[in-house]
Amino acid sequence: MPDYVLAIDQGTTSSRAMIFNHSGRVVSVGQLEHDQIFPRAGWVEHNPEQIWNNVREAVGLALTRANVTYTDIAAVGITNQRETAVVWDKTTGKPVYNAIVWQDTRTQPIVEELGGDAGPDKYKAIVGLPLATYFSGPKVKWILDNVDGAREAAERGDLLFGNTDAWVLWNMTGGVDGGIHVTDVTNASRTMLMDLDTLTWREDIAADMGIPVSMLPQIRSSSEVYGPGRPGGLLPGVPIAGILGDQQAATFGQACFEIGAAKNTYGTGNFMLLNTGTEKVPSKNGLLTTVCYKIGDQPQRYALEGSIAVTGSLVQWLRDNLGMFADAPDIEWLARKVEDNGGAYFVPAFSGLFAPYWRPDARGALVGLTRYVNRNHIARAALESVAFQTREVLEAMRADSGVTLTELKVDGGMVANELLMQFQADQLGVDVVRPQVAETTALGAAYAAGIAVGYWSGESDVVANWAEDRRWTPTMDQDERERLYRQWKKAVTRTFDWVDTDTK
Ligand SMILES: Nc1ncnc2c1ncn2[C@@H]1O[C@H](COP(=O)(O)OP(=O)(O)OP(=O)(O)O)[C@@H](O)[C@H]1O
Ligand SMILES: [Mg+2]
Repeated sequence: MPDYVLAIDQGTTSSRAMIFNHSGRVVSVGQLEHDQIFPRAGWVEHNPEQIWNNVREAVGLALTRANVTYTDIAAVGITNQRETAVVWDKTTGKPVYNAIVWQDTRTQPIVEELGGDAGPDKYKAIVGLPLATYFSGPKVKWILDNVDGAREAAERGDLLFGNTDAWVLWNMTGGVDGGIHVTDVTNASRTMLMDLDTLTWREDIAADMGIPVSMLPQIRSSSEVYGPGRPGGLLPGVPIAGILGDQQAATFGQACFEIGAAKNTYGTGNFMLLNTGTEKVPSKNGLLTTVCYKIGDQPQRYALEGSIAVTGSLVQWLRDNLGMFADAPDIEWLARKVEDNGGAYFVPAFSGLFAPYWRPDARGALVGLTRYVNRNHIARAALESVAFQTREVLEAMRADSGVTLTELKVDGGMVANELLMQFQADQLGVDVVRPQVAETTALGAAYAAGIAVGYWSGESDVVANWAEDRRWTPTMDQDERERLYRQWKKAVTRTFDWVDTDTK
């Protein structure tokens, strides 16, 4: 058995390739950012060809930096930004349009029309999701409705759809020369097109959206051999053996295998997932019901998910759009210059509000301003918004599942921020725990692939490899904790009902 497993993490802001050893430790990393394309307010696109080029380059970098070749790689796992929709022509290998990213809100009219009199919960009992701009199905409909010739090509059977996992896998396994068109159950559960019980495509919902079923990838488990890397590529013959959407991958990498185990990832957005076992729990409190993972032939596990659209991307926005600092970590020393938020609350409803509100009509607001407030307070308010939003999701989880968490496992780029982590523990009233490997997304995909080929024996290896790095314990006075949260809740209401039909 070769010594290492390689994971490809095709994320929202970058593509990473990471090589792991048998202890689940990072051996090397290759990473490249891709362009964020904003053609209009509310529209967010990526160039799929740039993404595929970056994936290849990242894999090359990771192999070079570890000083290994493909013969040292036992298996490859893929994890990815979910929901982001790529439609390409299988005869040319070219995308027919840019990828429409999960944050994009252009499908709002489509979503309203699909809901009709039934409203946003029309498909929820089947797919676990409310109708929202977030999910892939309506994005595919937009492409077929708006790109010249796309619908005809789709009906001829020439077009394929996938989240970026399927796009990367198809290219890795040969592209126009026999590329394999499959996805896993977790990605499929983000399209609004998959039946959560049978794990098969719903032809009736696809028909409602005008999407030919021939475009859809075959749905497979998250941990099995899908096929070998193409001859002549960087990983010829290496089994590609794991696919998990990024948040499910992080849940896997955090060893959340027991019912009631949860993790929260702080990246571009924040995503908390709670394992509910083989039972799918419907949400009454604004959470999503989604597939957590499925290992080979074993029964699928489900999760409740609280998705928050804007957390790390608010830090990027302060950096790039306002020029407040040069690097994301700089926000911490700005925020540390002041004792508190100075009365300012920043609700980053840039893509409307996701969990637990699902308010597409909301837009961002900075409230509570006085002459006293300076940029340090705004930096602090931005970090606090991440923790407040997380508390809202945690409270919804408690209400839906009856599970009271005694601590929260965290990961993602923002957990390097100690001020945020302490404030998070203070707001939640429970310990916040960071593992030694904070790259749990890539790690989870590596585990899924390694388990499929017998490099790891199963979940017990994942549990054995997990190790705590740091823990933050709540210290804030109870009255202050509740006062801040009450003000936050009030700030959230100020963002509602902003978008009118002619808002630009
Ligand atoms: N020290 C820090 N303090 C606050 N925010 C940070 C810090 N370091 C990174 N970030 C933010 O974290 C995010 C990057 O985290 P991470 O690399 O986990 O993102 P990601 O969501 O995995 O990216 P992708 O969406 O591409 O997968 C960026 O939005 C960045 O602004
Ligand atoms: Mg990520």
